[in-house]
Amino acid sequence: MKTTAVILAAGQGTRMRSSLPKVLHPVLGKPMIWHAIRSVHSVTSEKPVLVVGHESEAVVQFVGDRAHFTIQEEQLGTGHAVQQAEELLKGNADQILVTMGDMPLLREQTLQKLIDMQTGHSGPITLATISLDDPHGFGRIVRDTTGNVLAIVEEADATEEQRAIHELNAGVYCFDAVWLWDALKRIPLSQKGEYYLTDLVEIANADGLSVQAYSSQDPAEMIGINTRVHLAEATSILRRRINREWMLSGVTMVDPETTYIEPGVQIGADTMIHPNTHIQGETQIGGGCEIGPNSVIVSTKIGDDCRIFASVLEDAVIENRVDIGPFGHLRKGAHLADDVHMGNFGEVKASYLGKGSKMGHFSYIGNAEIGEDVNIGAGTITCNYDGVQKHKTEIGNGSFIGSDTMLVAPLRIGERSRTGAGAVVTKDVADDALVVGVPARELKRNKNDNQEDT
Ligand code: UD1
Ligand code: MG
Repeated sequence: MKTTAVILAAGQGTRMRSSLPKVLHPVLGKPMIWHAIRSVHSVTSEKPVLVVGHESEAVVQFVGDRAHFTIQEEQLGTGHAVQQAEELLKGNADQILVTMGDMPLLREQTLQKLIDMQTGHSGPITLATISLDDPHGFGRIVRDTTGNVLAIVEEADATEEQRAIHELNAGVYCFDAVWLWDALKRIPLSQKGEYYLTDLVEIANADGLSVQAYSSQDPAEMIGINTRVHLAEATSILRRRINREWMLSGVTMVDPETTYIEPGVQIGADTMIHPNTHIQGETQIGGGCEIGPNSVIVSTKIGDDCRIFASVLEDAVIENRVDIGPFGHLRKGAHLADDVHMGNFGEVKASYLGKGSKMGHFSYIGNAEIGEDVNIGAGTITCNYDGVQKHKTEIGNGSFIGSDTMLVAPLRIGERSRTGAGAVVTKDVADDALVVGVPARELKRNKNDNQEDT
């Protein structure tokens, strides 16, 4: 049984009051449509068809080849929207799963349940329903006395009695494809001037075919986002869901209410996350780490047993037992090897720091290659930019850079060398040398004179 999904996303989303298309608004870092596509991908390997409006270049650009697209020129209703997928799908799918681009919390299990129920069903429709205390805005599910679903009545068309119904149409369906394409043509125009997908329930009943419903016990997953208030609600529901999964898999969260972990992140067991920590993008964190409080980690790979305290890490790699912070900043291309220590107010960009190297206070290291066990004194700066180009600084193993050294790149400092406090180093420094002054000049070279403490 081949199932293909049709995701409806042609609505204007006017209630968002935004120049950004509704489905591109992010829920925990990923646009709603990313979530919608991910949920259908979890139940069918067929590329979904995305129904978009005519001003949707940005959506098409974001989704790229993860979906086929069909344009609904005029928003003539949800039934009309599904019809736009007929040309692409007729004869190519046995079942059509219909979801909405603005429902980012749909779970895989729910979609799978709908598909499985429809696969074993003699009638043409299986739909998801939810029960809410406040049914406002939803289509009402009308059943007969034996429980068969007879109709979905939209709120605007509902009688007083029907409005009191609390079983509601979630807006997610699985249809028999052959029946669907024919029945869509038989939807009457509503009073509002739209073709309602929901009218298919009455059409099936008129055909003498049965409609079945799956009642979800988790109304939160059916949230359809119309306003930025819904957006915030959906974001916090997803945040709780993700945090719960990480806690159950062995991650400690001191305060899950202020811990923001995006989908796509990975975290090892026995890592502890402190409050007000944001872990984003494709970040991977090993086991036994302590992260936060007050940290932002973006697409960074972190090994085991690291300590990140009140710091910002972006597009960086850090290996094992590294400690950073408070107030450290790793930028794109920073790579810190095992046992590196980076104290307060340091910034590292596009640089490698070898095993056991230390930069304790107030330093900027950019476009540098630093060996093992290098000590970078307080206030050291790699002067890597001459106004036009970036230049590289290399520092050999075991060197000791004195406080407030300016390393004017391009520059190579040999192994076991030292710079005096306040040196402005403009020329390469040999192995085992000591340079001092402005501009720095070599004072002595001594193979054994490099063991002073820090
Ligand atoms: C719809 C259902 C309602 C259900 C509710 C659940 C209909 C007629 N009603 O109402 O029973 O309880 O969802 O949230 O289906 N769209 C298009 N093209 C259109 C119109 C809509 O692509 O011409 C898309 C929208 O972008 C949106 C989705 O379809 O993603 C739902 O449309 P919306 O206008 O929000 O329908 P509701 O009034 O919420
Ligand atoms: Mg809606």
